[in-house]
Amino acid sequence: NMPSKVRLIDVGPRDGLQNEKQPVPATVKIELVHRLQAAGLKEIEVTSYVSPKWVPQMADNHEVMQGVTRAPGVRYSVLTPNLKGYEAAVADRPDEIVVFGAASEAFSQKNINCSIAESIERFAPVVQAALAAGIAVRGAMSCTVGCPYEGEIAPERVGYLAGLMKGIGVQRVDVADTIGVGTPKKVQAAIEATLAHFDIDHISGHFHDTYGQALSNTYAALQMGVWNFQSSVAGLGGCPYAKGATGNVATEDVVYLMHGLGIATGIDLDKLVDAGAYISEQLGRPSGSRVARALMAK
Ligand code: HMG
Ligand code: MG
Repeated sequence: NMPSKVRLIDVGPRDGLQNEKQPVPATVKIELVHRLQAAGLKEIEVTSYVSPKWVPQMADNHEVMQGVTRAPGVRYSVLTPNLKGYEAAVADRPDEIVVFGAASEAFSQKNINCSIAESIERFAPVVQAALAAGIAVRGAMSCTVGCPYEGEIAPERVGYLAGLMKGIGVQRVDVADTIGVGTPKKVQAAIEATLAHFDIDHISGHFHDTYGQALSNTYAALQMGVWNFQSSVAGLGGCPYAKGATGNVATEDVVYLMHGLGIATGIDLDKLVDAGAYISEQLGRPSGSRVARALMAK
């Protein structure tokens, strides 16, 4: 059942940087995107079109999207929570937009200020407009195993959200462990629930590494045939509405795992480590990637 190749979506410029307290200059974000594409990433989540009062770090979304010199064959995605965000984003020609909902009511309220049902009502016209404009649509599903406010989340609630996403025309979904509390069997149950509405080619794993389980969860998803994964170079990140949550699993660590398993990624690990070293230096802290630290210590 194990795939022979995987597609990695680096969410570092967005998920990775959104929680940084100090403003990261747009030029640095643009350079990070350039380094990621040079390393062979074919999908990069660049920024989000959300309220700058809520997430000040993403206020430079236009500047960043306009500043990227696009590489052929690379898909640039952005987050759009509502029509206002979509209309702002569309001017910057994203290849894919991402609507983001949660399996937990409390997280939906804290993150996007509305209930799950209301969020779907807001997403529906966004999805419709994007599809009509030839822009791909992904749906991020937060808190699919645990919620910082509600605790454990039952797989049925993931299935419910996946069904709602499918119903409004979302093409593929991310099964996200927002706060990194998941363990393999729980993550597999969340994926299993999603499989009732999306096939395996349209499900990606989005694992945060707060409890050090993200690589195990990645492997568990691989065993089910999942071959799309989101990760952040240097393990950057955390969600501003999920206190204590650390970054996504580091892209370098996922690449090392895949190559060790004989699974193709299309990514040059050395160049990726350089990209991670660049952003870590800019942020003034060591890389969150164990693989990067090991390779740099050599
Ligand atoms: P709201 O306050 O409910 O929106 O926020 P509203 O429609 O009532 O508008 C209030 C104000 O926000 C107005 O401005 C709007 O113009 C403005 P004012 O008149 O007060 O000056 N506004 C916007 N401005 C810019 N862009 C927009 C936009 N919409 C309204 N799109 C909203 C609703 C969703 C906008 C808000 O709650 C928000 O921005 N939340 C931030 C959500 C976020 O970015 N979270 C982090 C990303 S999700 C994540 O990290 C999880 C993920 O990685 C998966 C995982 O790990 O789980 C994806
Ligand atoms: Mg995330």
